[in-house]
Formats: sequence, C-alpha cells, structure tokens
Amino acid sequence: MSDDVNLKQDIFTALINKHEIQRNLCDKLEAAEGWAAKKEIYPDLALELQAHAAAEERHLYVPVMQHDEGLDLSRHAITEHHEMDEMMEVLDDGRTGEERWLKTCGDLIHKVRHHLKEEENEFFKEARKILDADLQQRLGALYQVEHAEFEQNHGE
Ligand SMILES: [Fe+2]
Ligand SMILES: [Fe+2]
Repeated sequence: MSDDVNLKQDIFTALINKHEIQRNLCDKLEAAEGWAAKKEIYPDLALELQAHAAAEERHLYVPVMQHDEGLDLSRHAITEHHEMDEMMEVLDDGRTGEERWLKTCGDLIHKVRHHLKEEENEFFKEARKILDADLQQRLGALYQVEHAEFEQNHGE
C-alpha cells in the first residue's frame, strides 16, 4: 500500500488532499511551455484524475446518492467527471493535432479547477450533512485504498 494512505482521514480530508495534488499538476501543466513539455506532464494529471474520479464516485457519490437530497449533486458531479473523460480521450488519441491538443488541454485545466471549487464549496458541504460521521470516517479509508490501487494498476 502506498505511503500516502492515512486511514485516519475522513472522506473529505482525503478527497481535498488529492484535490491539492490535482491543482499543483494543473499549475505545472499550464506553466510548461510548448506541446512537448506539456505532453510530459499531462499523463500524471490524467492518472490522478482517473484514480480520483473512480474512487470518489464509489466512496462518496454512490453513498450520497442513496439519499434523495444527494441525487442532484451526485448527478452533477458525475456528469463533470464524464466531461473530463471526454477531454482526456481527445488528449490520449495520437491522431489529435497540436492546435486541438493544446486547446483541449487548456479546457481540461479550466474544467478541473471549476470542478474542484464546486465540490469543495458546494457538494462536499451538502454531503457532510447527508452522511453520518462514522460513515465519513470509514469511506475515507475505502477511498484512499482504492485510489492507491488504481494508481498501482494503471501507472507506469
Ligand atoms: Fe469530482
Ligand atoms: Fe473531487
């Protein structure tokens, strides 16, 4: 198991820690100059986004969705994950030319930043009211283990 798994973190602490990693990778990707330099960094962001979305959907949004008041926010968040997936499909497709790649990469960075802000400022606040404290604690552990396993199985 990877070193950054801290089973004492509740689900929201664990998620926000990974959001910080995504923000740093977005900054790095944005600052890199030129297509070649960006293509070096992009796979790190893509892996992080995919590991996070899979584990976040299973261990936050599925439990939240069990409650009527959690349906809308979960649908909204998962739709945004799907939009990011579609952008990553363009970026991962070797036939995508430079201009389209760079435009899509900028769009993805913008989308990620928007999504993280919306989760932290809105969705997580609602979700905290929906899930009881004990469950928040257990989901934190499940999320971290799944994120680490995803990275192990899909990383280089
Ligand atoms: Fe998300
Ligand atoms: Fe998230």
